[in-house]
Amino acid sequence: MNHAAPALSQSLLSAARAVAAVEGGQSLTEALADTPAHLRPSTQALAFYAMRHWGEAIAIRRLLVQREPSSPVIGALLGLSLLLLNVAMQAEGDTRDPAAPLYTAHTLVDQSVQATQLQRALENYKGLVNAVLRRFQRERDQVLVQIEDDIEARWNHPAWWIRALQKAYPDQWQGLLQAANQHPPLTLRVNTRVSTREAVQEAFAAQGLAVTPVGPAGLVLQVPRPIASLPGYDQGWWSVQDAGAQMAAPLLNIAPGMRVLDACAAPGGKTAHLLELADIELTVLDIDADRLARVEQNLKRLKLMRPGVRLVAESAIRSHLWWDGVPFDAVLADVPCTASGIVGRHPDIRWLRRPDDIAQTVKLQREILDSLWSTVAPGGKLLLVTCSIFPEECEMQAQAFLARHNQAERLDAPGQLLPCVPGTEFPAGHDGFFFALFTRRI
Ligand SMILES: C[S@@+](CC[C@H](N)C(=O)[O-])C[C@H]1O[C@@H](n2cnc3c(N)ncnc32)[C@H](O)[C@@H]1O
Repeated sequence: MNHAAPALSQSLLSAARAVAAVEGGQSLTEALADTPAHLRPSTQALAFYAMRHWGEAIAIRRLLVQREPSSPVIGALLGLSLLLLNVAMQAEGDTRDPAAPLYTAHTLVDQSVQATQLQRALENYKGLVNAVLRRFQRERDQVLVQIEDDIEARWNHPAWWIRALQKAYPDQWQGLLQAANQHPPLTLRVNTRVSTREAVQEAFAAQGLAVTPVGPAGLVLQVPRPIASLPGYDQGWWSVQDAGAQMAAPLLNIAPGMRVLDACAAPGGKTAHLLELADIELTVLDIDADRLARVEQNLKRLKLMRPGVRLVAESAIRSHLWWDGVPFDAVLADVPCTASGIVGRHPDIRWLRRPDDIAQTVKLQREILDSLWSTVAPGGKLLLVTCSIFPEECEMQAQAFLARHNQAERLDAPGQLLPCVPGTEFPAGHDGFFFALFTRRI
Protein backbone atom coordinates (compact mmCIF):
# COMPACT_ATOMS: atom_id res chain seq x y z
CA MET A 1 0.00 0.00 0.00
CA ASN A 2 1.30 3.47 -0.85
CA HIS A 3 1.07 6.11 1.85
CA ALA A 4 1.58 9.83 1.45
CA ALA A 5 4.60 11.13 3.37
CA PRO A 6 3.58 11.57 7.01
CA ALA A 7 3.26 15.07 8.46
CA LEU A 8 6.44 16.20 10.19
CA SER A 9 4.52 16.52 13.46
CA GLN A 10 3.74 12.77 13.40
CA SER A 11 7.36 11.83 12.68
CA LEU A 12 8.61 14.17 15.42
CA LEU A 13 6.26 12.65 17.98
CA SER A 14 7.10 9.12 16.90
CA ALA A 15 10.87 9.81 17.08
CA ALA A 16 10.45 11.55 20.45
CA ARG A 17 8.71 8.43 21.80
CA ALA A 18 11.61 6.28 20.60
CA VAL A 19 14.23 8.61 22.12
CA ALA A 20 12.28 8.72 25.41
CA ALA A 21 12.27 4.91 25.41
CA VAL A 22 16.06 4.90 25.02
CA GLU A 23 16.32 7.34 27.92
CA GLY A 24 14.21 4.84 29.85
CA GLY A 25 16.75 2.09 29.10
CA GLN A 26 15.36 0.42 25.96
CA SER A 27 17.53 -0.07 22.87
CA LEU A 28 16.63 2.07 19.87
CA THR A 29 16.06 -1.06 17.77
CA GLU A 30 13.46 -2.28 20.27
CA ALA A 31 12.00 1.18 20.62
CA LEU A 32 11.48 1.46 16.85
CA ALA A 33 10.15 -2.06 16.40
CA ASP A 34 6.46 -1.14 16.69
CA THR A 35 6.63 2.02 14.57
CA PRO A 36 3.93 1.88 11.87
CA ALA A 37 5.42 1.21 8.42
CA HIS A 38 4.48 4.60 6.94
CA LEU A 39 6.26 6.40 9.80
CA ARG A 40 9.26 4.11 9.98
CA PRO A 41 11.80 5.76 7.62
CA SER A 42 11.22 9.31 8.90
CA THR A 43 11.08 8.22 12.55
CA GLN A 44 14.27 6.22 12.20
CA ALA A 45 16.13 9.07 10.49
CA LEU A 46 15.10 11.57 13.19
CA ALA A 47 15.77 9.21 16.11
CA PHE A 48 19.21 8.22 14.81
CA TYR A 49 20.09 11.88 14.25
CA ALA A 50 18.95 12.68 17.80
CA MET A 51 21.07 9.89 19.31
CA ARG A 52 24.16 11.06 17.41
CA HIS A 53 23.65 14.58 18.81
CA TRP A 54 22.03 13.89 22.16
CA GLY A 55 24.82 15.46 24.24
CA GLU A 56 24.22 18.73 22.42
CA ALA A 57 20.44 18.38 22.74
CA ILE A 58 20.56 17.85 26.49
CA ALA A 59 22.96 20.76 27.01
CA ILE A 60 20.75 23.18 25.06
CA ARG A 61 17.57 21.94 26.70
CA ARG A 62 19.08 22.28 30.18
CA LEU A 63 19.75 25.97 29.56
CA LEU A 64 16.25 26.70 28.30
CA VAL A 65 14.04 24.54 30.49
CA GLN A 66 14.31 25.25 34.19
CA ARG A 67 12.46 22.15 35.34
CA GLU A 68 12.55 18.87 33.37
CA PRO A 69 9.03 18.26 31.98
CA SER A 70 7.33 15.40 33.80
CA SER A 71 6.61 13.75 30.44
CA PRO A 72 9.74 11.99 29.06
CA VAL A 73 8.23 12.21 25.56
CA ILE A 74 8.00 16.00 25.82
CA GLY A 75 11.57 16.12 27.13
CA ALA A 76 12.69 14.11 24.10
CA LEU A 77 10.55 16.18 21.70
CA LEU A 78 12.14 19.36 23.03
CA GLY A 79 15.65 17.94 22.66
CA LEU A 80 15.01 16.75 19.12
CA SER A 81 13.27 19.94 17.99
CA LEU A 82 16.00 22.12 19.48
CA LEU A 83 18.64 20.16 17.56
CA LEU A 84 16.75 20.50 14.30
CA LEU A 85 16.03 24.16 14.92
CA ASN A 86 19.73 24.74 15.48
CA VAL A 87 20.47 23.17 12.08
CA ALA A 88 17.70 25.23 10.48
CA MET A 89 19.16 28.45 11.88
CA GLN A 90 22.74 27.80 10.79
CA ALA A 91 23.90 30.63 8.62
CA GLU A 92 24.78 30.13 4.98
CA GLY A 93 28.35 28.83 4.77
CA ASP A 94 28.32 27.28 8.28
CA THR A 95 29.66 23.72 8.35
CA ARG A 96 26.53 21.67 8.32
CA ASP A 97 26.26 17.94 8.87
CA PRO A 98 25.13 16.77 5.40
CA ALA A 99 23.09 14.05 7.14
CA ALA A 100 21.11 16.52 9.24
CA PRO A 101 17.39 16.62 8.46
CA LEU A 102 16.71 20.09 7.10
CA TYR A 103 13.50 22.05 7.63
CA THR A 104 12.78 25.76 7.93
CA ALA A 105 12.68 27.20 11.44
CA HIS A 106 9.04 28.21 10.96
CA THR A 107 8.00 24.67 9.94
CA LEU A 108 9.87 23.16 12.86
CA VAL A 109 8.32 25.33 15.52
CA ASP A 110 4.88 24.89 14.02
CA GLN A 111 5.17 21.09 13.62
CA SER A 112 6.72 20.58 17.06
CA VAL A 113 3.80 22.42 18.63
CA GLN A 114 1.40 20.38 16.45
CA ALA A 115 3.08 17.20 17.71
CA THR A 116 1.84 17.93 21.24
CA GLN A 117 -1.72 17.98 19.92
CA LEU A 118 -1.54 14.44 18.53
CA GLN A 119 -1.81 12.78 21.93
CA ARG A 120 -4.27 13.87 24.57
CA ALA A 121 -1.83 13.43 27.47
CA LEU A 122 0.59 15.87 25.80
CA GLU A 123 -1.87 18.62 24.85
CA ASN A 124 -1.01 20.71 27.91
CA TYR A 125 2.60 21.02 26.81
CA LYS A 126 1.75 23.09 23.74
CA GLY A 127 2.67 26.36 25.44
CA LEU A 128 5.92 25.02 26.87
CA VAL A 129 7.15 23.64 23.53
CA ASN A 130 6.23 26.85 21.74
CA ALA A 131 7.92 29.05 24.38
CA VAL A 132 11.15 27.01 24.56
CA LEU A 133 11.62 26.85 20.80
CA ARG A 134 10.89 30.56 20.34
CA ARG A 135 13.29 31.42 23.13
CA PHE A 136 15.99 29.39 21.40
CA GLN A 137 15.30 31.32 18.19
CA ARG A 138 15.91 34.56 20.07
CA GLU A 139 18.85 33.45 22.20
CA ARG A 140 20.61 30.92 19.98
CA ASP A 141 23.95 32.74 19.81
CA GLN A 142 24.26 33.08 23.60
CA VAL A 143 23.12 29.48 24.15
CA LEU A 144 25.73 28.12 21.76
CA VAL A 145 28.47 30.14 23.50
CA GLN A 146 27.33 28.79 26.88
CA ILE A 147 27.58 25.14 25.82
CA GLU A 148 31.01 25.53 24.21
CA ASP A 149 32.86 24.05 27.20
CA ASP A 150 30.43 21.19 27.73
CA ILE A 151 32.30 18.05 26.66
CA GLU A 152 29.14 15.96 26.32
CA ALA A 153 27.74 18.57 23.92
CA ARG A 154 31.05 18.78 22.06
CA TRP A 155 31.52 15.02 21.55
CA ASN A 156 27.99 13.70 21.93
CA HIS A 157 29.04 10.95 24.32
CA PRO A 158 28.61 10.67 28.12
CA ALA A 159 31.47 12.31 30.05
CA TRP A 160 32.55 9.02 31.70
CA TRP A 161 32.89 7.42 28.26
CA ILE A 162 34.99 10.32 26.95
CA ARG A 163 37.26 10.13 30.01
CA ALA A 164 37.66 6.35 29.59
CA LEU A 165 38.80 6.83 25.98
CA GLN A 166 41.10 9.72 26.94
CA LYS A 167 42.78 7.43 29.48
CA ALA A 168 43.06 4.43 27.17
CA TYR A 169 43.96 6.30 23.98
CA PRO A 170 45.66 9.61 24.89
CA ASP A 171 46.54 10.28 21.24
CA GLN A 172 43.53 8.80 19.48
CA TRP A 173 40.49 9.53 21.63
CA GLN A 174 39.31 12.45 19.52
CA GLY A 175 39.54 10.44 16.29
CA LEU A 176 37.67 7.58 17.96
CA LEU A 177 34.84 9.86 19.08
CA GLN A 178 34.70 11.46 15.64
CA ALA A 179 34.50 8.04 13.98
CA ALA A 180 31.71 7.05 16.38
CA ASN A 181 29.68 10.05 15.20
CA GLN A 182 29.94 9.14 11.51
CA HIS A 183 27.55 7.00 9.53
CA PRO A 184 29.20 3.63 8.96
CA PRO A 185 28.91 2.10 5.49
CA LEU A 186 26.82 -0.94 4.63
CA THR A 187 29.25 -3.82 4.19
CA LEU A 188 28.37 -7.26 2.84
CA ARG A 189 30.20 -10.58 2.95
CA VAL A 190 29.71 -12.72 -0.14
CA ASN A 191 28.57 -16.29 0.57
CA THR A 192 31.22 -18.07 -1.45
CA ARG A 193 29.24 -21.32 -1.18
CA VAL A 194 26.56 -20.02 -3.54
CA SER A 195 28.22 -17.17 -5.45
CA THR A 196 31.41 -15.24 -6.14
CA ARG A 197 32.31 -11.68 -5.34
CA GLU A 198 32.59 -10.90 -9.06
CA ALA A 199 29.11 -12.29 -9.79
CA VAL A 200 27.57 -10.29 -6.93
CA GLN A 201 29.41 -7.16 -8.04
CA GLU A 202 28.04 -7.61 -11.57
CA ALA A 203 24.48 -8.11 -10.32
CA PHE A 204 24.77 -4.92 -8.26
CA ALA A 205 26.30 -3.00 -11.19
CA ALA A 206 23.40 -4.14 -13.40
CA GLN A 207 21.09 -2.27 -11.02
CA GLY A 208 23.34 0.80 -10.96
CA LEU A 209 24.65 0.04 -7.45
CA ALA A 210 28.34 0.82 -6.89
CA VAL A 211 30.24 -1.52 -4.56
CA THR A 212 33.91 -1.63 -3.55
CA PRO A 213 35.72 -4.85 -2.54
CA VAL A 214 37.06 -5.10 1.01
CA GLY A 215 39.01 -8.03 2.53
CA PRO A 216 38.80 -11.50 0.96
CA ALA A 217 35.01 -11.64 0.46
CA GLY A 218 33.57 -8.24 1.38
CA LEU A 219 31.77 -5.56 -0.60
CA VAL A 220 31.07 -2.04 0.61
CA LEU A 221 27.93 -0.41 -0.72
CA GLN A 222 28.49 3.25 -1.51
CA VAL A 223 24.88 4.28 -1.05
CA PRO A 224 23.08 2.11 1.50
CA ARG A 225 19.69 0.69 0.54
CA PRO A 226 17.06 -1.43 2.32
CA ILE A 227 18.71 -4.81 2.58
CA ALA A 228 15.92 -7.05 1.32
CA SER A 229 15.69 -4.96 -1.89
CA LEU A 230 19.31 -5.67 -2.88
CA PRO A 231 20.04 -8.29 -5.58
CA GLY A 232 20.61 -11.79 -4.24
CA TYR A 233 19.16 -11.32 -0.76
CA ASP A 234 16.55 -14.10 -1.09
CA GLN A 235 19.03 -16.34 -2.89
CA GLY A 236 21.49 -16.06 0.03
CA TRP A 237 24.35 -14.61 -2.04
CA TRP A 238 25.60 -12.48 0.83
CA SER A 239 25.22 -11.46 4.47
CA VAL A 240 25.47 -8.02 6.03
CA GLN A 241 28.68 -7.98 8.06
CA ASP A 242 31.07 -5.20 8.97
CA ALA A 243 34.57 -5.42 7.44
CA GLY A 244 36.16 -5.75 10.91
CA ALA A 245 33.81 -8.61 11.88
CA GLN A 246 34.77 -10.41 8.65
CA MET A 247 38.27 -10.90 10.06
CA ALA A 248 37.09 -13.20 12.88
CA ALA A 249 36.18 -16.61 11.40
CA PRO A 250 39.29 -17.01 9.15
CA LEU A 251 41.56 -16.58 12.21
CA LEU A 252 40.51 -20.04 13.46
CA ASN A 253 41.97 -21.60 10.31
CA ILE A 254 39.33 -24.35 10.24
CA ALA A 255 39.48 -27.40 7.94
CA PRO A 256 36.84 -29.91 6.76
CA GLY A 257 35.75 -32.40 9.40
CA MET A 258 36.78 -30.28 12.41
CA ARG A 259 34.57 -30.09 15.49
CA VAL A 260 33.90 -26.40 16.03
CA LEU A 261 31.94 -24.46 18.67
CA ASP A 262 30.45 -21.02 18.02
CA ALA A 263 29.72 -20.17 21.63
CA CYS A 264 27.94 -16.79 21.54
CA ALA A 265 26.55 -17.14 18.09
CA ALA A 266 23.43 -15.04 17.56
CA PRO A 267 22.41 -13.52 15.19
CA GLY A 268 24.86 -15.74 13.34
CA GLY A 269 27.09 -13.48 11.23
CA LYS A 270 30.22 -15.39 12.17
CA THR A 271 28.38 -18.75 12.30
CA ALA A 272 27.56 -18.42 8.60
CA HIS A 273 31.09 -17.34 7.83
CA LEU A 274 32.51 -20.47 9.55
CA LEU A 275 30.17 -22.68 7.54
CA GLU A 276 31.13 -20.92 4.32
CA LEU A 277 34.82 -21.56 4.99
CA ALA A 278 34.73 -25.37 5.52
CA ASP A 279 32.48 -28.42 5.96
CA ILE A 280 32.70 -28.63 9.72
CA GLU A 281 30.68 -30.13 12.55
CA LEU A 282 29.39 -27.01 14.23
CA THR A 283 27.71 -26.52 17.60
CA VAL A 284 25.94 -23.16 17.56
CA LEU A 285 25.29 -21.91 21.08
CA ASP A 286 23.53 -18.83 22.41
CA ILE A 287 21.82 -18.14 25.70
CA ASP A 288 18.95 -16.34 23.98
CA ALA A 289 16.51 -18.71 22.25
CA ASP A 290 14.83 -15.89 20.26
CA ARG A 291 18.14 -14.67 18.94
CA LEU A 292 19.15 -18.25 18.16
CA ALA A 293 16.01 -18.59 16.02
CA ARG A 294 17.41 -15.74 13.91
CA VAL A 295 20.60 -17.75 13.38
CA GLU A 296 18.51 -20.58 11.98
CA GLN A 297 16.63 -18.21 9.66
CA ASN A 298 19.89 -16.73 8.44
CA LEU A 299 21.49 -20.13 7.85
CA LYS A 300 18.42 -21.27 5.89
CA ARG A 301 18.48 -18.16 3.70
CA LEU A 302 22.19 -18.73 3.06
CA LYS A 303 21.61 -22.46 2.36
CA LEU A 304 24.05 -23.37 5.13
CA MET A 305 21.68 -25.29 7.41
CA ARG A 306 23.19 -28.74 6.78
CA PRO A 307 23.73 -31.99 8.73
CA GLY A 308 26.39 -31.50 11.38
CA VAL A 309 25.01 -28.11 12.43
CA ARG A 310 23.51 -28.26 15.94
CA LEU A 311 21.74 -25.29 17.52
CA VAL A 312 21.62 -25.10 21.32
CA ALA A 313 19.93 -22.41 23.44
CA GLU A 314 22.00 -22.50 26.64
CA SER A 315 24.56 -20.55 28.58
CA ALA A 316 28.19 -21.09 27.64
CA ILE A 317 28.90 -21.15 31.37
CA ARG A 318 26.78 -24.28 31.93
CA SER A 319 28.82 -26.58 29.68
CA HIS A 320 27.63 -29.69 31.56
CA LEU A 321 24.22 -29.06 29.93
CA TRP A 322 25.36 -28.92 26.30
CA TRP A 323 28.84 -30.47 26.00
CA ASP A 324 29.21 -34.22 25.40
CA GLY A 325 32.81 -34.19 26.65
CA VAL A 326 34.40 -34.57 23.19
CA PRO A 327 36.79 -31.61 22.85
CA PHE A 328 36.49 -29.01 20.10
CA ASP A 329 39.25 -28.25 17.59
CA ALA A 330 38.21 -24.62 17.45
CA VAL A 331 36.05 -22.40 19.65
CA LEU A 332 34.79 -18.97 18.70
CA ALA A 333 34.01 -16.87 21.78
CA ASP A 334 32.36 -13.70 20.46
CA VAL A 335 31.47 -12.77 24.01
CA PRO A 336 28.86 -10.23 25.16
CA CYS A 337 30.45 -6.81 25.72
CA THR A 338 29.60 -3.13 26.06
CA ALA A 339 29.60 -2.89 22.22
CA SER A 340 31.66 0.29 22.47
CA GLY A 341 33.19 -0.47 19.06
CA ILE A 342 29.89 -0.32 17.20
CA VAL A 343 28.42 2.95 18.47
CA GLY A 344 28.63 4.43 14.98
CA ARG A 345 26.10 1.84 13.85
CA HIS A 346 24.10 1.91 17.10
CA PRO A 347 24.34 5.49 18.40
CA ASP A 348 21.98 4.74 21.31
CA ILE A 349 24.52 2.38 22.96
CA ARG A 350 26.61 5.19 24.43
CA TRP A 351 23.54 6.63 26.22
CA LEU A 352 22.34 3.21 27.43
CA ARG A 353 25.58 2.11 29.06
CA ARG A 354 26.57 2.95 32.64
CA PRO A 355 30.17 3.14 33.89
CA ASP A 356 29.89 -0.06 35.96
CA ASP A 357 28.73 -2.04 32.90
CA ILE A 358 32.37 -2.51 31.95
CA ALA A 359 33.22 -4.36 35.17
CA GLN A 360 30.06 -6.47 34.84
CA THR A 361 30.75 -7.58 31.28
CA VAL A 362 34.41 -8.25 32.15
CA LYS A 363 33.23 -10.65 34.87
CA LEU A 364 30.72 -12.40 32.58
CA GLN A 365 33.31 -12.70 29.80
CA ARG A 366 35.80 -14.23 32.25
CA GLU A 367 33.27 -16.85 33.34
CA ILE A 368 32.38 -17.68 29.73
CA LEU A 369 36.03 -17.92 28.65
CA ASP A 370 37.00 -20.16 31.56
CA SER A 371 34.08 -22.49 30.87
CA LEU A 372 34.85 -22.65 27.14
CA TRP A 373 38.56 -23.26 27.69
CA SER A 374 37.79 -26.63 29.28
CA THR A 375 36.16 -27.75 26.00
CA VAL A 376 39.20 -26.97 23.79
CA ALA A 377 41.22 -29.97 22.54
CA PRO A 378 45.01 -30.11 23.02
CA GLY A 379 46.38 -28.26 19.99
CA GLY A 380 42.93 -26.69 19.49
CA LYS A 381 42.21 -22.97 19.34
CA LEU A 382 40.06 -20.47 21.18
CA LEU A 383 39.37 -17.09 19.60
CA LEU A 384 38.25 -14.28 21.90
CA VAL A 385 36.33 -11.58 20.02
CA THR A 386 34.68 -8.43 21.35
CA CYS A 387 33.17 -5.49 19.52
CA SER A 388 34.60 -3.20 22.17
CA ILE A 389 37.40 -0.66 22.40
CA PHE A 390 37.56 -0.53 26.22
CA PRO A 391 40.87 -2.25 27.14
CA GLU A 392 39.32 -3.98 30.19
CA GLU A 393 37.18 -6.12 27.86
CA CYS A 394 39.97 -6.59 25.33
CA GLU A 395 43.72 -6.68 25.88
CA MET A 396 43.42 -6.73 29.68
CA GLN A 397 40.90 -9.58 29.46
CA ALA A 398 43.23 -11.53 27.13
CA GLN A 399 46.22 -11.06 29.45
CA ALA A 400 44.24 -12.07 32.52
CA PHE A 401 43.09 -15.20 30.64
CA LEU A 402 46.69 -16.13 29.85
CA ALA A 403 47.69 -15.58 33.47
CA ARG A 404 44.91 -17.94 34.68
CA HIS A 405 45.60 -20.76 32.20
CA ASN A 406 49.14 -22.00 32.04
CA GLN A 407 48.33 -24.37 29.15
CA ALA A 408 47.22 -21.43 27.02
CA GLU A 409 49.59 -19.94 24.48
CA ARG A 410 48.80 -16.77 22.60
CA LEU A 411 48.99 -16.91 18.80
CA ASP A 412 49.14 -14.12 16.23
CA ALA A 413 45.88 -12.15 15.80
CA PRO A 414 45.10 -8.52 14.98
CA GLY A 415 44.51 -7.51 18.63
CA GLN A 416 42.68 -4.20 19.00
CA LEU A 417 41.05 -2.98 15.80
CA LEU A 418 39.95 0.61 16.31
CA PRO A 419 36.93 1.92 14.42
CA CYS A 420 38.16 4.06 11.60
CA VAL A 421 36.98 6.82 9.34
CA PRO A 422 36.89 6.19 5.58
CA GLY A 423 40.20 6.12 3.82
CA THR A 424 42.56 5.23 6.64
CA GLU A 425 42.74 1.42 6.53
CA PHE A 426 39.79 0.23 4.49
CA PRO A 427 37.97 1.81 1.54
CA ALA A 428 35.24 2.69 4.02
CA GLY A 429 34.93 2.86 7.80
CA HIS A 430 34.73 -0.29 9.92
CA ASP A 431 33.66 -1.09 13.46
CA GLY A 432 35.93 -1.49 16.48
CA PHE A 433 36.87 -5.07 17.41
CA PHE A 434 39.31 -7.05 19.49
CA PHE A 435 40.72 -10.44 18.56
CA ALA A 436 42.94 -12.64 20.75
CA LEU A 437 43.78 -16.18 19.65
CA PHE A 438 44.91 -18.92 22.03
CA THR A 439 45.96 -22.52 21.58
CA ARG A 440 46.05 -25.26 24.18
CA ARG A 441 49.58 -26.62 24.46
CA ILE A 442 49.76 -30.34 23.68
C1 LIG B 1 28.39 -10.12 20.32
S1 LIG B 1 26.96 -11.06 20.27
C2 LIG B 1 27.40 -12.33 19.16
C3 LIG B 1 27.39 -11.93 17.69
C4 LIG B 1 27.53 -13.13 16.78
N1 LIG B 1 28.71 -13.93 17.08
C5 LIG B 1 27.57 -12.73 15.32
O1 LIG B 1 28.64 -12.70 14.71
O2 LIG B 1 26.49 -12.50 14.75
C6 LIG B 1 27.01 -11.87 21.80
C7 LIG B 1 25.97 -12.98 22.00
O3 LIG B 1 26.25 -13.64 23.22
C8 LIG B 1 25.04 -14.13 23.74
N2 LIG B 1 25.28 -14.47 25.17
C9 LIG B 1 25.27 -13.65 26.24
N3 LIG B 1 25.56 -14.35 27.34
C10 LIG B 1 25.77 -15.63 26.96
C11 LIG B 1 26.08 -16.84 27.65
N4 LIG B 1 26.25 -16.85 28.96
N5 LIG B 1 26.20 -17.96 26.93
C12 LIG B 1 26.01 -17.96 25.59
N6 LIG B 1 25.69 -16.85 24.89
C13 LIG B 1 25.59 -15.71 25.57
C14 LIG B 1 24.06 -13.00 23.48
O4 LIG B 1 22.73 -13.51 23.47
C15 LIG B 1 24.52 -12.50 22.10
O5 LIG B 1 23.75 -13.08 21.09
